[in-house]
Amino acid sequence: MGNVTIGENPGQADYLDGGACPCLIVDDDPAIRDLVARSLPRFGYRVLTAGSGAEALETLRREEVPLVLTDVQMPGMDGVALLEAIVAEWPETAVVVATAMSEVDVAVTCLRKGAHDFLTKPFQLSDLTARLSQALDKRRLILENRRYQNHLEDMVREQGARLEELFLESVQSLAHALDARDSYTQGHSARVRAYAGAIARAIGLDSGTIQEVELGAELHDIGKIGITDDVLLKPAPLNEPEYRHLMDHTRIGARILHPLLKNLPLALAIVRSHHERLDGSGFPDGLGGDAIPLGVRIVSVADSFDAMTTARPYRGPRSAAEAVAELRRCSGAQFDSEVVAAFISSYPPGTEFPIATPRRVRISLPPPVAGVSRPGA
Ligand SMILES: [Fe+2]
Repeated sequence: MGNVTIGENPGQADYLDGGACPCLIVDDDPAIRDLVARSLPRFGYRVLTAGSGAEALETLRREEVPLVLTDVQMPGMDGVALLEAIVAEWPETAVVVATAMSEVDVAVTCLRKGAHDFLTKPFQLSDLTARLSQALDKRRLILENRRYQNHLEDMVREQGARLEELFLESVQSLAHALDARDSYTQGHSARVRAYAGAIARAIGLDSGTIQEVELGAELHDIGKIGITDDVLLKPAPLNEPEYRHLMDHTRIGARILHPLLKNLPLALAIVRSHHERLDGSGFPDGLGGDAIPLGVRIVSVADSFDAMTTARPYRGPRSAAEAVAELRRCSGAQFDSEVVAAFISSYPPGTEFPIATPRRVRISLPPPVAGVSRPGA
């Protein structure tokens, strides 16, 4: 490689358009520094020099340098210590160490510590340019490989999220199919989603939490797939054992959705706890007060309002005014009074209830919020 010229070294390609490739020469011997500084520019390098490790670090802090050639034996900070500092601070910088013939073990140590190559002193100019060229090439391959890995990780993450969305879309279809099993609950999940979303917006929750509340609201009754038809479709009020069996849909739903919603704890809590009551007398865990997340309290109001304003096999629908009066009457014991107020403020007087069943919305997962507990959670 004695005839290395600009453009023959792929590692330097990044610098061809913008000028020569910066190369920092670190040696306490000024004669060697000068010799190298005079020789390298015609091979496409812009040479920077430093007489010590400390001086080299100053230069690296000042400007981006892709390539460093350092002597090992130097007073003060030696080449090995400088190499360690560069690997820690500027891992994308390629380092070539120059050692005496008798220091082969030092050269091996340097390679283990992250040096790209080594050069034994005294060296010929052709050796020097070949080593620098190879070090730059190695650096380029490492960077390309790292970029490729990052890209692959992004792709895997994106595909994983899309897979989760596809699963959730299947579950969403199931929820709507369950609603449609009898004419009385047709459109229930979609309306509860709309009511809950309106309340969450009125309260001022952030968009990620609103999405999670809406998702939980839409899927809240998915566990009814595990409830027998004679209970689910009974044309009369349920007796105690039947009611307990019906309330099992909360546990069943949470069990079904746990693998899918483990990163969306609020949505999962909505499925499990939407029949809890503030006074602790609800199902399935008897949670009370603040132990019931705000997002769950929102869906509880939305769910109850829709149930009251739609017909059941054993009773007709209540009017909106009657349902609102019932929400108010049960505020504090069953429902959160602020949530009830937010619901009432969400719809102008004269709104017809139940609202028209909204069109199905394609599920998109809210982005995970690492280490942050959302206010509704
Ligand atoms: Fe329910």
